[in-house]
Amino acid sequence: MSKKKSFLRQFWQEKKMVGAMAPSSRFLAQKMLKGIDFKRAKVIVELGPGTGVFTDKIVELMHPDAVLLVFELNDHFMDQLRSRYTDPRVRLIHDSAEKIQEYLEKEGLNHADVVVSSLPLANFPKELRDSILNAADDALVENGHYVQFQYSLQSKKQIQKTFKKMQIRFTPLNFPPAFVYSCRK
Ligand SMILES: C[S@@+](CC[C@H](N)C(=O)[O-])C[C@H]1O[C@@H](n2cnc3c(N)ncnc32)[C@H](O)[C@@H]1O
Repeated sequence: MSKKKSFLRQFWQEKKMVGAMAPSSRFLAQKMLKGIDFKRAKVIVELGPGTGVFTDKIVELMHPDAVLLVFELNDHFMDQLRSRYTDPRVRLIHDSAEKIQEYLEKEGLNHADVVVSSLPLANFPKELRDSILNAADDALVENGHYVQFQYSLQSKKQIQKTFKKMQIRFTPLNFPPAFVYSCRK
């Protein structure tokens, strides 16, 4: 099954959790990853990879000594990811994004340098949004980088409350068009 079909099928089954009808475009992937310092980032966390549009790029760009912890809740996406990523730097975690710290500790890691999130925050109850944003904030090293895309500015205030420095970029070249929040701890 193609990635697009597989994505659409998961969307119909779990609309709120998947939050999109199609994988992100390469334009959005470029905007999401543009400001990340891949030479220095040794611990990268990805939240909600879906079919792996951003994961592919991160694996291509990441330092040979870096590790990538990937959190995906959806069973079908996780099966696909497992069959695609055999790179020993990649740790696939079939669990919720709120548990970043628990899995960093399991890996013997103190902090993450970068968190890349595609989670559909606007679909979640406020408590879950808070809990995920706080987990990302707690996991990040001082001045660590948090990058998140959303289809609206609905969660802007909440993201800004967690991360003091924030820049927002927009790309119309995605379905739907998206805002990229680039934040610093
Ligand atoms: C909008 S899709 C983005 C997929 C992909 N990154 C892309 O841009 O095409 C959101 C993804 O987040 C996953 N997800 C939702 N809630 C999650 C959670 N609490 N923990 C981990 N993944 C979650 C969904 O299963 C889905 O794969």
